[in-house]
Amino acid sequence: MTTKNLTERDKNHLWHPLTQHKLHPEMLGIVRAKGALLIDEAGNELIDGIASWYTCMYGHCNDFILQRVHHQMQQLDQVVFSGFTHEPAVKLSEELIKILPHNQEKLFFSDNGSTATEIGIKMALQYHYNYGSKRNVMLAFEDGFHGDTFGAMSVSGLSVYNGPFEEFLIEVERIAVPTKENIEAIISQLESRLEQQNIAGFIYEPLVQGAAAMKMHDADGLNKILRLLQRHNVLTIADEVMTGFGKTGTHFASDQIETKPDIICLSKALTAGLIPMAITSCTQDVYDAFYSDDLVKGLFHGHTYTANPLACTAALAGIELLQSEEIQNNIQRIIKSHKAFGAEIESHSKVANIRQCGIIFALDLNVKIERYGNLRDKLFKHFMDNGVFLRPLGNTIYVLAPYVTTNEQLKKIYISIKDVLSIV
Ligand SMILES: Cc1ncc(COP(=O)(O)O)c(C=O)c1O
Repeated sequence: MTTKNLTERDKNHLWHPLTQHKLHPEMLGIVRAKGALLIDEAGNELIDGIASWYTCMYGHCNDFILQRVHHQMQQLDQVVFSGFTHEPAVKLSEELIKILPHNQEKLFFSDNGSTATEIGIKMALQYHYNYGSKRNVMLAFEDGFHGDTFGAMSVSGLSVYNGPFEEFLIEVERIAVPTKENIEAIISQLESRLEQQNIAGFIYEPLVQGAAAMKMHDADGLNKILRLLQRHNVLTIADEVMTGFGKTGTHFASDQIETKPDIICLSKALTAGLIPMAITSCTQDVYDAFYSDDLVKGLFHGHTYTANPLACTAALAGIELLQSEEIQNNIQRIIKSHKAFGAEIESHSKVANIRQCGIIFALDLNVKIERYGNLRDKLFKHFMDNGVFLRPLGNTIYVLAPYVTTNEQLKKIYISIKDVLSIV
């Protein structure tokens, strides 16, 4: 009797995310992971060039994090966070507030990036509602991505995900991401739009729009937009779900922008890839709008696993690592390495628009490729066959590898990218 492998058994009952199963029926079974490596069922090693969707930044199965969580598991596993509190959550609030932009004061927990932004949007809408002003429109960047729940989908501009739900979404208006050329036009368009006083909040991915294929924008332009919106009492919501925890070269992308957001959404690397969790942080001013003798002015949102002690412990261990000399040196090493690689391939005829923000590196291929087309699949297969897990986004190839990726592993990633240039 032959035992079916994971790929075959998977087909019976599983439905995967972002997958049209008729076109892509095969899932690769992964059995182990360590550092920057994933190991499949056949024993092949793959370099995790996107840190499993930007989560495992300190490396898979990091011993330091595992030890901390293992210890916590024996003390307290889970408890309701309404009416109770616990050391991992309190300690995490103390440590995270120290490294967040200085105006952040309060933390609201949830489970994933979508719920973090959903809560940010609800905070913005209810903030104005609680003060009795009717502001029911959200503002967002074109091509932004903020998650898959209804509020998050509404503010996301990538229509490939939203089609069937368009008519159920909340009201959103979009502005272009700022460049040196368009910023004056954006500001004057906003100045006249803001006169209507019905925009509740503005949600944005600071500096890098991840799902839009690592599109990068101008910090000065973004700063001007934020300053103007805050003057008009529009709550600014930085979605740092992708950019948070060192990837842009600073702890948070918002550290590189003078105007600090009213609300920040965090997830992914928050828990170092070990356990799902998210946090929506906010200023004292936002919190105060909900603080009242009137029960219904509270934020009545809550998830069962809110502030799970194990997830909080993983986050605390992750924050300790982020601030360590070792990880900070690794971040600088990868930044330098990507820069050198960018310079090396810059003039290749198939390469356009090389860009880098911290350890996030991207380039466009000078070839038209559909986001979910055949050529994209061919590139993906090429990388996998060469032991590198990269997920091209249309004609964009990007690298967002764990901080512990070795120089040898980076070299292997670069070689596989250079090889791709000869097959497109
Ligand atoms: C900027 C941003 N916001 C929100 C999300 C949604 O996060 P999740 O997939 O955990 O719901 C993502 C996911 O990629 C993201 O990149």
